[in-house]
Amino acid sequence: MDGGARRRRPLRAVLLGAPGSGKGTQAERIASRLGVPAISTGDMLRDQVAAGTELGLRVRDVMAAGSLVEDDLMAEVVRARLARSDAQRGFLLDGYPRTTVQAETLERLLGATDARLDAVVLLEVPEEILVLRTLGRQRADDREDVVRERLRVYREKTEPLVGYYQGRGLLRRVDGDQAVERVTAAVLASLGG
Ligand code: AP5
Repeated sequence: MDGGARRRRPLRAVLLGAPGSGKGTQAERIASRLGVPAISTGDMLRDQVAAGTELGLRVRDVMAAGSLVEDDLMAEVVRARLARSDAQRGFLLDGYPRTTVQAETLERLLGATDARLDAVVLLEVPEEILVLRTLGRQRADDREDVVRERLRVYREKTEPLVGYYQGRGLLRRVDGDQAVERVTAAVLASLGG
């Protein structure tokens, strides 16, 4: 981990973007540079599915179909994760929030401890590149019909968050269609790091 870039003040940020935009790739890199945990709700859910837990059994088919897990269930997953000690010094969320209800839940969870979001970084990537990237990977939900559904769900349920966060002065736009290292540098710059 590069501890040289650690911030004194906790950074609470969200990476927003369509499936395949590079949220997971960038979250790990940025979080390690900033010394905060990368919190991926997709990874957390996949771990539960792999372990065959009750939660995993509840979300398995929803994820396989490319749909969104219910907001109430996600609220509980994220509440428990943000309450852990490593998230008290900040965090970088990848894959949450994905709906306006989830954005309101996040505000409420943070507000309960007088905390608030510092920034929301939108990774912008053309749709044809998103499809190429996801189909090139072969995760269980990377079949072409499921990828198309995930993109449709993103446009319908998640894209409205761009305006939501823009209206709150939190949105930063980054060109995600460039080399991984360049995207990392642009995201860090957008966060003032
Ligand atoms: P999630 O795991 O969040 O999937 P996603 O949003 O569809 O995103 P991906 O993981 O496909 O893409 P990414 O943007 O992270 O890009 P990545 O870095 O992997 O969610 C999966 C499912 O879980 C959802 O469909 C839903 O069912 C459920 N879920 C999760 N959170 C939820 C929530 N909050 N509410 C409800 N349901 C929820 O990169 C993709 C590929 O591109 C990789 O191969 C990578 O190597 C490559 N790549 C990355 N960057 C570059 C680059 N700059 N140049 C070239 N290639 C690149």
